[in-house]
Amino acid sequence: MTPRFLMTDPAHFEVAYVINPWMRPDAWRRDPEGNRRAARAAWEALAAALRGAGAAVEVLPGAPGLPDMVFPANAAVVLDGRALLSRFRCPERRPEEPRFWAAFQALRARGLLDAVAALPEGVFQEGAGDCLWDAARGHFWAGHGQRSLREAIPYVEAFFGREAVPLELAAPRFYHLDVCFCPLPGGEVLFHPGAFTPSALGAIRARVPAALRIEATAEEAGLLCLNAVAIGRTVVMARASARLRALLAERGYRCVELDLSPFLLAGGGAFCMTLRLDLRAAAPPRAAPRAAPVPLGA
Ligand code: ARG
Repeated sequence: MTPRFLMTDPAHFEVAYVINPWMRPDAWRRDPEGNRRAARAAWEALAAALRGAGAAVEVLPGAPGLPDMVFPANAAVVLDGRALLSRFRCPERRPEEPRFWAAFQALRARGLLDAVAALPEGVFQEGAGDCLWDAARGHFWAGHGQRSLREAIPYVEAFFGREAVPLELAAPRFYHLDVCFCPLPGGEVLFHPGAFTPSALGAIRARVPAALRIEATAEEAGLLCLNAVAIGRTVVMARASARLRALLAERGYRCVELDLSPFLLAGGGAFCMTLRLDLRAAAPPRAAPRAAPVPLGA
């Protein structure tokens, strides 16, 4: 099966507000034209890297005034042909919800998804940004405590019939799980320990043996290179450190590093600029998947 990713065209991307500590509207405004050009080039390079790794890319149009739509990872959690649409904590991003709803209905109409539902209003959960499928272990890891609510996790478990292990995020810099935690296809987990509460670290250490844990420093996490897309043994990421590149190479991964600097000004890297649509779990669900309550638009 061809891996398939959703991306949002960056025509309307800019850094206009601050909803996470990485965001730099001042740096954007210093050269909006140059930044826009650089963003287009970086986005094209990411799409080309995904295609180069054998993936297909579905492109959504963005919308004026919704610059962060360029980060579709936050739109939904997707697995087994089912998409659970997110609820954004920040008012700046809430108007993205109906746009993504329409886009996901269109994907369903084309047969790329079987079921689409939305979380109830107020049940904040920011999609794959805070809910990462661990293919090697057959469960989700669910970030909470910054953008997403712990209360959203049972909805995710019910909708997919899969376990979601809660990981509480301890610092505003690590506002989404995908900026500090990356499960790799071979079972390794690349993560920055400083992003997590002690109980979250306990959960990681209980489930991932030491030999499979790759710890990144705060400086490395600050490159937003943990926000990576793994396709087989290829890992597509923002520029990483030589140390991480070497650690990944030792384990048989090939890093494709991109200059994503215009998007880093918004606090996003490679992973959140994409959303994988075709993920399928290897094992059947532990419970029958249930439709999430109160689908948007119902
Ligand atoms: N400016 C966006 C926000 O703060 C960046 C989102 C990046 N997405 C992610 N999954 N890390 O919402």
